[in-house]
Amino acid sequence: MRRPIIAGNWKMNNTASEGVALVNALKPLVKDANCDVVVCVPAIDIPAVAEAVKGSNIRLGAQNVHFAEKGAYTGEISAQMLKEYGVEYVIIGHSERRQYFGETDETVNKRTLAALAAGLTPIVCIGETLEEREGGLTEKVLDRQIEEGFKGIEDLTKLVIAYEPVWAIGTGRTATDEQANETIGYIRKKLAETFCPVCAQKVRIQYGGSMNAKNAKGLMAQPEIDGGLIGGASLKLDFAQVVNFDK
Ligand code: PGA
Repeated sequence: MRRPIIAGNWKMNNTASEGVALVNALKPLVKDANCDVVVCVPAIDIPAVAEAVKGSNIRLGAQNVHFAEKGAYTGEISAQMLKEYGVEYVIIGHSERRQYFGETDETVNKRTLAALAAGLTPIVCIGETLEEREGGLTEKVLDRQIEEGFKGIEDLTKLVIAYEPVWAIGTGRTATDEQANETIGYIRKKLAETFCPVCAQKVRIQYGGSMNAKNAKGLMAQPEIDGGLIGGASLKLDFAQVVNFDK
């Protein structure tokens, strides 16, 4: 059995004090969750939110990590810098980073390997654009993202994968439960071929893209879907309802 994992992706929202207030309000609401609960916060919020989540079941995540251990990379943040504050998860290769910040399968791969080497759990995002889906290219794009982005990974089960169809992110347009399940099933099949069948069965794969308090239950009832990466709905107390999808 794969333990579900629901992660909030705050993106560039919430100052440190706003983030602390949100987390403090969420703590009692999510304390009995039957899943792993994570908030991935802006880097500058990390110290304050790290304090706020102490002693709770909320785990801390970042939204990016650099692949070098240290050095002349102005504006970047290393895995050790995150670790020192108790960060356990890091989103890598989010479509917004691929679209606006020059992230490629190659840099996703380097960041993922660096995060794993430091003992962080990467939440690696993959998914197709609307054009690609409509052009019948979904599987081809996912194949490429897996073959290039996951190169050299020794233990696939140390990752969390987020399948985020780009056309469903922030658009209010969710993939149907069946669409999401089918595509995640395809990802698992590709992982079984590329890595091994047993690790493909063990690795947790989230759905992401306009997931919210209303549709979480249906998505989570699908056999291939092990959790969610939640953007907009993670900025409100609705996040607790997503976390408590089974209640
Ligand atoms: P959304 O974002 O839930 O606002 O669609 C999801 C994500 O981009 O991770």
